[in-house]
Amino acid sequence: MGPLEKLHIHHEKLISTIKSLAERATKNPADTSLLLAYCNEYLVSHAEAEEVTLYTVDDDPNFVNNMIHEHKEIKHSLDVIDAAFSRGEAGTLTAEIHNFLALLNKHFGEEENTLMPRISKKITEEELESLIGEAHQIEAEKKKSDVWSLFEYDHKRIDLNLSQIKSSKGDPGKSAEYYSIMRTQLLNHIELEETILFPAFGEHTTPDHLGPVNVMIQEHQIITSYLPSPSDKDGVTRAFDVLHELIGKLTVHNKKEELILYPMINRELPRGEKEKVFKECLDRFMKV
Ligand SMILES: [Fe+2]
Ligand SMILES: [Fe+2]
Ligand SMILES: [Fe+2]
Ligand SMILES: [Fe+2]
Repeated sequence: MGPLEKLHIHHEKLISTIKSLAERATKNPADTSLLLAYCNEYLVSHAEAEEVTLYTVDDDPNFVNNMIHEHKEIKHSLDVIDAAFSRGEAGTLTAEIHNFLALLNKHFGEEENTLMPRISKKITEEELESLIGEAHQIEAEKKKSDVWSLFEYDHKRIDLNLSQIKSSKGDPGKSAEYYSIMRTQLLNHIELEETILFPAFGEHTTPDHLGPVNVMIQEHQIITSYLPSPSDKDGVTRAFDVLHELIGKLTVHNKKEELILYPMINRELPRGEKEKVFKECLDRFMKV
């Protein structure tokens, strides 16, 4: 496979994942967490790597400046999506996601149809191959693998689904559906903390830092006791009766993780380990 084809496949994977996550986000705004986490990890690092490799070979400074400007626009659009997501503004969110996809499509098109054919005429196939290899290397190094923000995004996702349960109270079918989604996501979140995030941290930290982890695990037991299964008799009714308590407990628990534990984990986990944890957990967040 030639270098151009390889780059095309890489772009295809990025764009098809982003499109499917964008579609999920427009159907349920809570899922914007997935789109943001994915782009912050894989798209931003991709753009940064190109600027210092492939883009340096092109002769037309105006074109290159325009491409770099488009990276900035794409990044800005992600920031607008992030802000609308944190404020829960569904209208702005949908409009900006459309804008984001349009920017991305245009940009990838220019890279593949203008930039790459031009570069490949200028340098040999071997040189191009090694340049793309270098781009991949830098892309891997630029990944932030910010597990703190990854898990914080998932808290936000669960919070939004919790508020959708409340706002759809007049429609029992809808609120039961949101309860079921929220419950699956919360149980998945807790499982990932207890089986992936916390154990990875445990291997790389000092024993005195394990105190907060144990407190979080105890709190998980209390939180899960407020999550009756919707398939149990009266499960949904019982869940709605204790919804207020669940939200109270979860708010305090999440704050402790966001202010104390996640920053500590983000700081202390070695790079390679963090990248592995980030990838594995994001893949699993995307499944529910
Ligand atoms: Fe680019
Ligand atoms: Fe690209
Ligand atoms: Fe937790
Ligand atoms: Fe958490």
